[in-house]
Amino acid sequence: MWDRDMEGKEQPAGGPHFVGKKDELIEAKRSFRTLEGRDVLVIYHQGVFYAMDSYCYHAGGSLENGDIEELNGKLCIICPKHKYKISLANGECIYKATDPRQTPPVPRWYSKGVKQRVHSVTETNGDVYVTLSGDTGWFESDYYQGEKGKVERARA
Ligand code: FES
Repeated sequence: MWDRDMEGKEQPAGGPHFVGKKDELIEAKRSFRTLEGRDVLVIYHQGVFYAMDSYCYHAGGSLENGDIEELNGKLCIICPKHKYKISLANGECIYKATDPRQTPPVPRWYSKGVKQRVHSVTETNGDVYVTLSGDTGWFESDYYQGEKGKVERARA
């Protein structure tokens, strides 16, 4: 399957899609792009580019303005809506909880698994490209990229 990039050139579906000049993306820190109908957030943080579905898997919150923190050794974006913590590297959602059966209960980190679809970012001669994830499995963030999810987001 083939698609067209921002300049109208043919390329394989999934990309790589040109998403901008490195310097511009670094300055912006967060850049929203729609690639093949998918809304993707490109993030620059501490010298590294990341890309993931733009809407939080939990209830479609926009991740664009989420803070980034290192939690349990993982850089995570914190969804502004309900504060879910999503790993930039692989889309895993982590949370901190205590087991009430423990005495004394000590808070520790748990994983909900990989929930957010992440995409790969490459750079060539100052141009940055995103290749959409080709994973054929279902990620919960896929819901907010579909028609029903988009309608639900618009209503919220
Ligand atoms: Fe992101 Fe609920 S929508 S935490």
